[in-house]
Amino acid sequence: MSKILVVFFSPKGETYFPDGYKVVEKGNAQIIAEKAKEILKADMFEIRAEQSYPQSYNECCKVAKEEHMMGKRPKLLGYMQNLDGYDDIVLVYPCWWGTMPMPVFTFLEHYDLKNKNIFPICTHEGSGMGNSESDLNQICDGANVCAGLAIQGATAQNCDTKLKSYLKVNGLV
Ligand SMILES: Cc1cc2nc3c(=O)[nH]c(=O)nc-3n(C[C@H](O)[C@H](O)[C@H](O)COP(=O)(O)O)c2cc1C
Repeated sequence: MSKILVVFFSPKGETYFPDGYKVVEKGNAQIIAEKAKEILKADMFEIRAEQSYPQSYNECCKVAKEEHMMGKRPKLLGYMQNLDGYDDIVLVYPCWWGTMPMPVFTFLEHYDLKNKNIFPICTHEGSGMGNSESDLNQICDGANVCAGLAIQGATAQNCDTKLKSYLKVNGLV
């Protein structure tokens, strides 16, 4: 039987909350990825950029904007050797400049994703999924990109019901 893989990108540092910026040990996307891993008894992989992003929210926004505008593909610290044996990939990331952070593009473009099902889960502060679903459709050639789940960042800790119901509707549990 094919296994499920949870892949996430969620750099540590300052994160936005309605009552101000806070430095977090674990980003919102990571919190959700860990919940999904637990529910699905899945394997998990963290996408990490070789060059870490600034801790400061505003500085991170500047670097990420430049990468987004230039269509950069930041180098990653590592990859999974291959994605063989995983038909279903739950992909969790924060919305950055209306889409996925560029290291997520780097990761996905490294693999042949033909016939894989991709379930995108995006944390955000108002943009929802942004353009990420259509970007995923463009770069994941031959994959089945399912409609995503958008979770407002500050609610990541308490998203269990929403998350379980998304995974259930998509036949993963
Ligand atoms: C570089 C950067 C760009 C962002 N761009 C957006 C955006 O375009 N739309 C949005 O709703 N939120 C945006 N946000 C907010 C994050 O998506 C949100 O805070 C998310 O919950 C962070 O998840 P994390 O803790 O896993 O990094 C941005 C945050 C950063 C750091």
